[in-house]
Amino acid sequence: MTDATDTTDATDTTDASGRGRTAVLAGLGTFVPPRVVTNEELSRTMDTSDEWIRTRTGITQRHWADPGTATGDLAVAAGERALKSAGSGEVDLVVLATTTPDHPCPATAPEVAFRLGLEGVPAYDVAAVCSGFVYGLASAAGAIAAGIAERVLVIGAETYSTILDPQDRTTSVIFGDGAGAVVLRAGDPTEPGALLGYDLGSDGSLKDLIIVPGGGSRQRSAAAAADAPEPDPADAYFAMQGKSVFRHAVTRMAASSQAMLERAGWAADSVDRFVGHQANVRILHAVADQLGMARDRTVVNLDRVGNTSAASIPLALSDAVADGLITPGDRVLMSAFGGGVTWGSTALVWPDVTPY
Ligand code: ACO
Repeated sequence: MTDATDTTDATDTTDASGRGRTAVLAGLGTFVPPRVVTNEELSRTMDTSDEWIRTRTGITQRHWADPGTATGDLAVAAGERALKSAGSGEVDLVVLATTTPDHPCPATAPEVAFRLGLEGVPAYDVAAVCSGFVYGLASAAGAIAAGIAERVLVIGAETYSTILDPQDRTTSVIFGDGAGAVVLRAGDPTEPGALLGYDLGSDGSLKDLIIVPGGGSRQRSAAAAADAPEPDPADAYFAMQGKSVFRHAVTRMAASSQAMLERAGWAADSVDRFVGHQANVRILHAVADQLGMARDRTVVNLDRVGNTSAASIPLALSDAVADGLITPGDRVLMSAFGGGVTWGSTALVWPDVTPY
């Protein structure tokens, strides 16, 4: 099956004592590398303009890591801050969502866990591109519901600057580097911060819409054939069919958000803040329109950080709290769409958590 939508409820699991056991948000931390790259700077090296980028995407700047800085470095910085925000360095599982791991093998999460002083805890990567953070939350919540973990550090971290073709104006202007992390703890479904379920899905028939063609077993195996052509160096770069991605992103995020609203028992107009994947402000507004939600409920921070893929939602949550747009008790709906293609949504009532 190429088009499978799985709506999963992790909120009604009961532990041995009969109490509900669900994942509750207990901490939030973020980190972006210091180097700011403005639209103006990009327009000096490629055929683009600040005006085009701002009007077509909403982005005015992004952060790019300096050479020598990898995804794991950003993940450690955000992870440290999330643990501080949660008031405890204790976790018993680390889940890292990324499209830009430090190496094809091994996963980045174990080294991140080690560097955070979490030696010995299970740690793995989740690869769902821009939906990775929501997939990571669902995976962590499943571990909590199953009694595998009490406290989980979920990190979304990316260095897209390492896979962008500097000559490709259709991708290089869009993506930024950064990391965001949350601590989830076992708690009660009625508490503020409890994740109220998940709507997850994928459609692998659309895998070519967002792809890094080279570097994997498909190309390596093909290259081993006697008559194989030389691999194209451009295959190492990220490629995207922007227009088609735009259409699918709107349709899937709207449908997934709607499914999540039904699961949470919320009307669209009762949502205080919609935190969608920060790909394009026109996508976010189109999704809000389809949901019948006022556009001003939409959190937008892509103007400052661009599309940071798996880091996008936690960075947007943190900025919205810092800007006073999300306060304790607010109903927050989150939705993402990314390569695969994949999509996912979740929701919570914002708890009394201060991001670092
Ligand atoms: N500067 C100037 N002109 C440009 C640029 C640029 N940076 N990029 C493209 N153009 C040109 C194109 O060449 C085209 O010119 P033409 O009409 O002469 O052929 C024109 O602008 C229009 O191009 P479109 O691709 O039609 O522009 P569009 O309005 O669709 O915007 C964009 C492109 C921003 C990529 C948009 O399609 C988009 O946001 N797509 C969705 C991206 C997304 O959601 N990604 C999330 C998932 S990504 C992930 O999972 C990692």
